[in-house]
Amino acid sequence: MSTLPNLSFFGKRVLITAGPTYEKIDPVRFIGNYSSGKMGYAIAEVLADMGAEVYLISGPVNIKIDHPNVKVTMVESANQMFDACLHYFDKMDIAIMAAAVADYRPAEFSEVKIKKKEEELTLRLVKNPDILSTLGHSKKNNQIVIGFALENNNELENAKIKLNNKNADAIVLNTLNNAGAGFQFETNQITIILKNGAIFEFPLKSKTEVAKDIAECVLKML
Ligand code: C5P
Repeated sequence: MSTLPNLSFFGKRVLITAGPTYEKIDPVRFIGNYSSGKMGYAIAEVLADMGAEVYLISGPVNIKIDHPNVKVTMVESANQMFDACLHYFDKMDIAIMAAAVADYRPAEFSEVKIKKKEEELTLRLVKNPDILSTLGHSKKNNQIVIGFALENNNELENAKIKLNNKNADAIVLNTLNNAGAGFQFETNQITIILKNGAIFEFPLKSKTEVAKDIAECVLKML
């Protein structure tokens, strides 16, 4: 007996960010982070399987996604990710910001490779745009914006502050205090905090199963 596919997200357009950003210092160096992109890609795949039209804005990762419902835009820096998100956001029903965006970038980019000279070298950094906060504060009533928070102290408290400051509808919290959860792992352990104060805690699961939990939660919010 065949089961019908679950197409609960049919007709919904979803913007997803995933992976790290690379902030260039010179032609051969950058500031980056250890994000693998696995969580964002898993969400893209799960929602696309459920019928969503997914626009995935990805930083540099080693994953490939080949799905008829997923359009991938590869970017490198936070500014490029920001521009790509702004390009799509107006037409989106849902935005899920799973990327590990660099908070700062080098103030200057050196066209030539920086030579080693002195014992010390100072890099001046300037703040990157906060994509989640920008989308959160410009969303319309019918748009849902969801962010992630990776915390290792006062997790719930900090996640709630993030939810408010960025005007998100929900925050997916993953703590760095759980073995097997977070950057580079195949598994994740999340808590979802909604704007109305509701809190849902989930056990450690594969990132695909976590993505399904997030999808369920978004469905209830729609
Ligand atoms: O402020 P913090 O970086 O901890 O917030 C994490 C959340 O904000 C994640 O959803 C991340 O994708 C998003 N973010 C962003 N743009 C930034 C920094 C974070 O969209 N510049």
